[in-house]
Amino acid sequence: MLNSDIIALLLLASSFQIVHIAAITCNKSNIIHSVQDDNVNITFLSTEVIRLNRSVLCTSNSSFEFINGPEYHCMRLGYGHYGQILIQIQNDNGVVDNCSITYVTKLYAANLAYINAIADRVRLSISRPLGSFDYVIVHCPDDKSHIIFNTSLPSNDLMMSVHCSFLLNMPLMSFVIETVKKDFDSTVNHIIQEVPLPVPMTSSLDSLLLTIIANPAPTINLASRYEFNLIFHGKDTDSITYERVKISDLKLYSNTTLKYGLIPNLKHEISFDHIVDSIGFAHSYLTITPISNVSYPYEVANFSIDEQFHKIVLRWTDTHSWYDPIEFIVSCNSSQKSSMNIGRNTSYTCEQMTFHETDIVSVQTKVAIPGYIHDQAAVVQINVKQVPEIPLFEVFNKTENDITIRWSYNSSSLMSNSFKYKVQCGLYEDASDIDIHSNQYQCQSLEDGSLHVITMHLISVNNTIKRSSSIQATTLLQKCQPKNHLFIPDIDGTISIIIEWIPPKHNFEKIIIYCPLTIMTYENHQVVSLMYVKCKVKHGSPFQVSFVTVKSGFEDAIFKFTDTAPSVDSTTTTDHPEIIATTTPPVFGSSTTTPPVFGSTTTRTTTTVGSTKTTSSRSTTTTTASEILATSTETVSSTTVRNITTDRIVKPEEEVTKWRTAAIIAFIVIGFLLLATIALTTFSIFAAFRKR
Ligand SMILES: *[C@@H]1O[C@H](CO)[C@@H](O)[C@H](O)[C@H]1NC(C)=O
Ligand SMILES: *[C@@H]1O[C@H](CO)[C@@H](O)[C@H](O)[C@H]1NC(C)=O
Ligand SMILES: *[C@@H]1O[C@H](CO)[C@@H](O)[C@H](O)[C@H]1NC(C)=O
Ligand SMILES: *[C@@H]1O[C@H](CO)[C@@H](O)[C@H](O)[C@H]1NC(C)=O
Ligand SMILES: *[C@@H]1O[C@H](CO)[C@@H](O)[C@H](O)[C@H]1NC(C)=O
Ligand SMILES: *[C@@H]1O[C@H](CO)[C@@H](O)[C@H](O)[C@H]1NC(C)=O
Ligand SMILES: *[C@@H]1O[C@H](CO)[C@@H](O)[C@H](O)[C@H]1NC(C)=O
Ligand SMILES: *[C@@H]1O[C@H](CO)[C@@H](O)[C@H](O)[C@H]1NC(C)=O
Ligand SMILES: *[C@@H]1O[C@H](CO)[C@@H](O)[C@H](O)[C@H]1NC(C)=O
Ligand SMILES: *[C@@H]1O[C@H](CO)[C@@H](O)[C@H](O)[C@H]1NC(C)=O
Ligand SMILES: *[C@@H]1O[C@H](CO)[C@@H](O)[C@H](O)[C@H]1NC(C)=O
Ligand SMILES: *[C@@H]1O[C@H](CO)[C@@H](O)[C@H](O)[C@H]1NC(C)=O
Repeated sequence: MLNSDIIALLLLASSFQIVHIAAITCNKSNIIHSVQDDNVNITFLSTEVIRLNRSVLCTSNSSFEFINGPEYHCMRLGYGHYGQILIQIQNDNGVVDNCSITYVTKLYAANLAYINAIADRVRLSISRPLGSFDYVIVHCPDDKSHIIFNTSLPSNDLMMSVHCSFLLNMPLMSFVIETVKKDFDSTVNHIIQEVPLPVPMTSSLDSLLLTIIANPAPTINLASRYEFNLIFHGKDTDSITYERVKISDLKLYSNTTLKYGLIPNLKHEISFDHIVDSIGFAHSYLTITPISNVSYPYEVANFSIDEQFHKIVLRWTDTHSWYDPIEFIVSCNSSQKSSMNIGRNTSYTCEQMTFHETDIVSVQTKVAIPGYIHDQAAVVQINVKQVPEIPLFEVFNKTENDITIRWSYNSSSLMSNSFKYKVQCGLYEDASDIDIHSNQYQCQSLEDGSLHVITMHLISVNNTIKRSSSIQATTLLQKCQPKNHLFIPDIDGTISIIIEWIPPKHNFEKIIIYCPLTIMTYENHQVVSLMYVKCKVKHGSPFQVSFVTVKSGFEDAIFKFTDTAPSVDSTTTTDHPEIIATTTPPVFGSSTTTPPVFGSTTTRTTTTVGSTKTTSSRSTTTTTASEILATSTETVSSTTVRNITTDRIVKPEEEVTKWRTAAIIAFIVIGFLLLATIALTTFSIFAAFRKR
């Protein structure tokens, strides 16, 4: 059996046509060699030899080269190669010794040019190995292998790719790239690489509503991010796509839920990319085409318009899912210039506009995706030109608690059956249906002396159209109510009348009492539930005492007390001179001589609608006095019901009661200094009566 060196030498000799070279292996001459890559390093160990002239023939194609020194390198002999190097050594005697070095270079390790994750798999791009080989085999982690660069097939590809599938939940992938040549040891390149894995997701479609539940991909050490896209294709064409959503850095948590209302009958694609900038991305996606035979987008529902004071308020119900890509365009009239995109709001106010100033009010529903024009839009509109008028109405009559309004209805309106009229007697009151043909309506049980807003409403039977018109009207102020009265003689022979009177409960600023000779003003806070006034009158003369309720912004409410004072004969003046002598004129709340007070401290808002609470404050003394007066006078009123304008002749028992009342009044108003005197006087009076 021939050894391989000799076979090689024979092969070499034939190919080189150096048949006569009787080569021996050079290691016998202390020449050794080592192979590195595709280079052979020849080293002369013996100094004897180094001294001699030497030359080398690295390949049959090259020429002999002289060797200097102990080393020589035959370069780039080629990988996967099997060959011989000839060395000639010229001895001192001129004899040339020939020897040969047989070498084998390794197979070139096929290199990974780049690896990238592309959507659903990993792509390995491999450069063609240098030198000689038969083929390259790539082993994927899933045990599949791929043969590339098969040199039996004519190809000059410098780079070839293989694809390996992702392994579920295994982001760390291991690949083996092997360069193979018959009779040579394979060169193995082992590559371990972390790759991004796709986002696991599920989706469900409910009518048009797509719900996607996504979870983070298995964690890796490389920095990675998630990108989400929702695109859709144009109608009848896959070539045009529109971007609905793009989220470049989506934060994914466990069960991240995304919802989108899709457009019916268009093909949508949802995708998640898990991206590692250096490696590539893993892509997970799905395609969905929701089918619907209903026109899209939908019209708004329950569109209503409400004409209020110089504005029209539009309201409607959005029948789309919140996730639908729609927006509303409102128009306050038919001219397109007034169109307004208001997004997903469901109300809008057309400012500075009434039904008279417009024709058609509309709400349009549009698909709102930038760059995409949907082939339909839904419009709901109301023609306000056809809405009947509210007749002008005015206050016809009013009392303290009622206001009657009157109008003139022109029944020519054709649509009247679709509408009804209502009247609302206060801002916070319920509106009542009215018969528009009656031409009048009475608001009842209103608060006296206050401002009321009376509104007439026109409402379509289906509640979609409303208009209203309001007026402001005041109820009359309440009048003071006189109760009892009595005449008393004065010290100077004149006579006075004391009138017991009840003020209005509230809603006044002051009460002015015009006696024949004096004027008295009571501010709201000075008034208690029962009051007295004393006026000087003339014996035997008719006179008038006017009680005027005053509130700014309101008409005065006047009660006139008219009577004739008794003549000198019929009075008791002369019978009781001592009373007159000791009685100081009674003081009622404020002094009778005080002129009417204007700009009083009681503040009131005259335009206030509804009840206004009386803000009067009284001193403890006054309260006590009023209680006493009230107690004493209740007795009087319960026993004596009289016609105050005719009963001039007073019966004795009643007279006793009246004098007692007068005494109490005097007692209170004069005060404690006169207490003793008053007591004496009272006793004298009673004594006098008993004598009678
Ligand atoms: C020289 O090389 C041959 C063949 O490679 C080997 O059999 C022999 O042992 C070597 N001799 C020395 C001295 O290295
Ligand atoms: C060549 O081989 C010799 C001996 O093994 C070694 O000392 C030397 O460094 C090598 N030269 C190169 C360039 O590898
Ligand atoms: C080596 O070769 C050179 C050139 O061929 C020659 O001049 C020289 O004499 C030679 N030396 C020996 C010792 O043969
Ligand atoms: C030798 O050289 C020729 C032409 O320069 C080339 O075609 C041939 O491949 C070469 N052979 C080797 C073994 O390098
Ligand atoms: C070595 O080869 C040369 C020719 O290349 C030849 O002249 C010489 O005689 C050979 N030497 C031996 C010892 O065979
Ligand atoms: C290389 O290609 C040849 C020709 O098609 C084929 O016969 C051979 O089996 C291939 N080698 C491998 C390892 O697939
Ligand atoms: C995510 O959803 C799955 C399936 O519904 C459930 O089993 C799991 O508990 C959920 N995880 C979290 C964190 O909610
Ligand atoms: C739409 O489809 C539903 C059932 O899918 C059907 O009941 C309905 O009549 C269809 N409507 C139209 C307008 O075709
Ligand atoms: C329209 O309004 C009516 C009455 O308020 C209501 O019952 C109905 O659900 C509304 N329609 C829509 C689509 O919201
Ligand atoms: C106004 O109302 C009052 C009280 O209800 C009534 O007495 C009076 O006749 C009415 N006036 C008119 C003009 O109707
Ligand atoms: C409601 O009534 C108005 C007036 O009659 C009419 O114009 C409108 O179309 C009606 N709307 C609905 C939804 O019935
Ligand atoms: C009160 O007097 C007036 C005028 O004299 C009279 O018209 C009226 O009927 C009287 N009323 C009572 C209740 O006596």
